[in-house]
Amino acid sequence: MTAVTVRVPAKINLQLAVGALRADGYHELVSVFMSVGLFDELTAELADSPAVTVEGAESAGVPPDRSNLAMLAADRLAAHTGRAPGVHLRIRKNIPAAAGLAGGSADAAAALLACDRLWDTRLPPDELGAIGAQLGSDVPFTLIGGVAVGEGRGEKLTPLTVEDSFHWVLAFGTGGLSTPAVYRQCDRLRAARAPGQPPDSGQRTCVDPAILRALRSGDVQALATSLGEPGSRNDLSAAALSLRPELRRTLAAGIEAGGLAAFVSGSGPTCVFLAEDAERAEQIVNGLRVSETCRAARAVVGPVTGATVAAAEEGGGNGR
Ligand code: C5P
Repeated sequence: MTAVTVRVPAKINLQLAVGALRADGYHELVSVFMSVGLFDELTAELADSPAVTVEGAESAGVPPDRSNLAMLAADRLAAHTGRAPGVHLRIRKNIPAAAGLAGGSADAAAALLACDRLWDTRLPPDELGAIGAQLGSDVPFTLIGGVAVGEGRGEKLTPLTVEDSFHWVLAFGTGGLSTPAVYRQCDRLRAARAPGQPPDSGQRTCVDPAILRALRSGDVQALATSLGEPGSRNDLSAAALSLRPELRRTLAAGIEAGGLAAFVSGSGPTCVFLAEDAERAEQIVNGLRVSETCRAARAVVGPVTGATVAAAEEGGGNGR
């Protein structure tokens, strides 16, 4: 093998219950992850020395050097399997960075899978996931995709079989939000809560069974009901909205345009809307564009499968 191309999807969080801050700096969480049809593409090619190239609509702010999470992933896999990390990674970015869509984790997951095939190391999926978890909390989920409940810091996964797919609209914000900064803000808001006030949902850290039932049933109205009011299922929402108050206007504009439910994905600033069907999804996209409350809007379908080999080229040597 001389080159392997992997396609890897973005994720959204239908629920994100953030629990206590742990001694290792991460928060205990429970999340319902879903992969959606917005993809980065990564090609790993055999090379004499490591290199990264980043191109595509969302390449802004993604480092084209060894600090890139994808290259760190290739380095980890090389160290784990005893290989020299001679690989050129070409990343085509469609998933915005620092957007609450696991864009960085997606590229790390893609690099792990692509290099595993390029080098013919063929690690068991669990082992690849464990290496991925060292790079980013969302990497293990992005490798498998679909729908899963995540626990721990997001890396302990229980996949959920969902037969039907749903229509979503993603509204991208201007500029990113730093994940650690949003978690810190969440902690600050919690600390500032007056004594005696009820804890927010995160301190319960359990999955809402109504969301899982609705996903399994394929009933879009039931799913909308289970997702509740904007912010009610995502404990990072208040933090993201306090750092970016203008997102409230985006959420309102998407609902105004026909969204059945609206929420901030993960640590934001991407806002997500559930649509009844493909046609309504396009209506929401148009409504958001007219409202000028976001940088761009895209209709996507989810769940989709996780990181997948899209092409593999043979030729000139055996890749070892
Ligand atoms: O794992 P990942 O690189 O995505 O996490 C980025 C940062 O987000 C962590 O360094 C931590 O500050 C915060 N985080 C957290 N609890 C989690 C996941 C992430 O506090 N469960």
